[in-house]
Amino acid sequence: MYKIVKKETLSPAVKLMKINAPYVARKAEPGQFIILRVDEFGERCPLTIADYDREEGTVTIIFQEVGQTTKSLGMLEEGQDILDFVGPLGVASHFEGIKKAAVIGGGLGTAIAYPQAKKLHEMGAEVHSIVGFRNKDLIILESEMSKASSKLIITTDDGSNGTKGFVTDELKKLIEEGNTYDLVIAIGPLIMMKAVSNLTRPYGIKTVVSMNPVMIDGTGMCGGCRVTVGGKTKFACVDGPDFDGHEVDFDEAMRRQLMYKNHERQSLEDHKC
Ligand code: FES
Repeated sequence: MYKIVKKETLSPAVKLMKINAPYVARKAEPGQFIILRVDEFGERCPLTIADYDREEGTVTIIFQEVGQTTKSLGMLEEGQDILDFVGPLGVASHFEGIKKAAVIGGGLGTAIAYPQAKKLHEMGAEVHSIVGFRNKDLIILESEMSKASSKLIITTDDGSNGTKGFVTDELKKLIEEGNTYDLVIAIGPLIMMKAVSNLTRPYGIKTVVSMNPVMIDGTGMCGGCRVTVGGKTKFACVDGPDFDGHEVDFDEAMRRQLMYKNHERQSLEDHKC
């Protein structure tokens, strides 16, 4: 069993939990994820590692209560336990030689972008972060992203905080102002990661995206998390979740994501109380 040692509400439907999981914390790196099961009746749920503390033996996860599993998880309180917490899974991000990077987070994707920005910052890279939200009430991790970045730009769709507009507009401005990035990391909705990748392609800037397809076993066996990258089938759980954004077939990924929407809705209906 894995104890919840801290629970925090970041925005109305977004929660942070620090889980006591020393073996996972010992090996965790940015870019990796865990698969948890709330209880014996729960589905397996993959969540990216948002932070870890090797000395404390804890792993931080941040999740939005969108499906049955995340809603059940969100109902647990500090001191309660999660049945399974397996990881770290996936390939860790590699930042050797990166001197200047732009880290782009869209909505909840900011929770996954944060450990990447933090690691780059700790390795001495200059980090420009751009994080976008629908409105000011949905902003998460502002102070954390600020500490991990030499420049932080916040955008909101409605202009209620930061700059009104999209993260891509701000990234374009920074590039056109003469910032030369060794790497752009984009994490968020597929449509946003596609837009960032399309923006950086003509500039020839290496762009990494984090794919978050449906996962079942997390071991490369079920094929549920397949994505097409550079014309080849890859599994996000063992080959990713980070991939070259210029090679990912985003249109196919978006079609596959839509396929599962009805199942999720049905699951929520079945579990209504
Ligand atoms: Fe089954 Fe990746 S989750 S192959």
